[in-house]
Amino acid sequence: MTARHAGTTALPDAGTLGGHSVRQLVRLCETAGLSDADTASYAAILLEALGNVAERPLDLPPPSLSFLSDDHSPVEFSLSFVPDEAPSLRVLLEPGYGAGTLAHNGRAGLRFVREAARRWNFSTAQLDKLEDLFFPDSPEGPLALWCALELRPGGVPKVKVYLNPAASGPDRAVDTVREAFDRLGHHKAFAALPAADRPLFLALDLGDWDEPRVKVYLAHRDLSATEAGALSRMAAGPPPAQIEDFFRVAAGIAPGPGVDGDEDERLTRRPVQSCHAFTETATGLPSGFTLYVPVRDYARHDGEALTRATALLEGHGIDAAPLRQALSAVTARRLEDGVGLIAYLSVAHQAGRPPRVSVYVSSEAYRIRPPALRPPVPRPLAERVAAG
Ligand code: TRP
Repeated sequence: MTARHAGTTALPDAGTLGGHSVRQLVRLCETAGLSDADTASYAAILLEALGNVAERPLDLPPPSLSFLSDDHSPVEFSLSFVPDEAPSLRVLLEPGYGAGTLAHNGRAGLRFVREAARRWNFSTAQLDKLEDLFFPDSPEGPLALWCALELRPGGVPKVKVYLNPAASGPDRAVDTVREAFDRLGHHKAFAALPAADRPLFLALDLGDWDEPRVKVYLAHRDLSATEAGALSRMAAGPPPAQIEDFFRVAAGIAPGPGVDGDEDERLTRRPVQSCHAFTETATGLPSGFTLYVPVRDYARHDGEALTRATALLEGHGIDAAPLRQALSAVTARRLEDGVGLIAYLSVAHQAGRPPRVSVYVSSEAYRIRPPALRPPVPRPLAERVAAG
């Protein structure tokens, strides 16, 4: 059975991968106030990106072990907030999902991006310059190509492409990032980066951007709030204390440094990530810095994750009601009944703009992670003191 939306697009059955995720997308578009026509075109794009796997019943196992989300769904939503504006809705996709090998996955991803470029009339020149680096014949690693679409009013999304620096092996990842920056004319960018465990993604803004960015995402194992506060390399970046506060609230760590010689707590489960965005080649410095906290590994359940997201939004003068609506648009489950619906919380600083708080929302097409029984981090200081 198929449902119809906006009179045009036939939606696959809700028990299929495409049917599940496209319904989430349609409902999110509605809460974001997008028109029926925009919603219909974005729904059609999502189904097109999924291709044949859209029809795959969800009671079959995931066709590949996508690293895009914990349950291997090839789709993740996010909402990005600044004060006094409706949040912008984005969707992260793996267009080559289910293509078989990683090499095929990458080829399918490139075809999708090039088809999008023809349709929306943008250049892929920056991506073309990197093709041999990121798409070797026998690629390795956790992904080949992901694509994020920012679902603006008007039906034409802004496009971001994510590539895997470890495509030619983890030991080549650092050199691959350096070489990619060089080819794109950012000769000083690599030297500007902070120390990290490894680069995870290189991302390009393609299409209609005022200032297209080249971004690198770095993983930081066992990071503390103080260390997070020192990661930005922007010329006039965020005050370290602001980043430290974000880190502590997102991770559920009591405010302020530890007392009685307590060490600053470290996030020893999934690594925190930082992203450094380069928009010009003159200074050699990034014009953007983002910190991503994988809240799902540091919270018992999504109710707790939502409480933290709400505190962060309100702390930035942002109304959290659209986030609650968005969560109800993607799932009917109680937030306390699982963890990982909210995957990451991030704060992005870009020169000359107010900070943006983003919340990454999983599709949970294949699996809901059960709540954690015990708090995943040492109890917050306040609780320890209260408990004696
Ligand atoms: N699932 C991967 C991870 O958790 C990649 C990923 C998906 C990601 N969405 C993200 C990484 C948002 C950072 C921010 O690392």
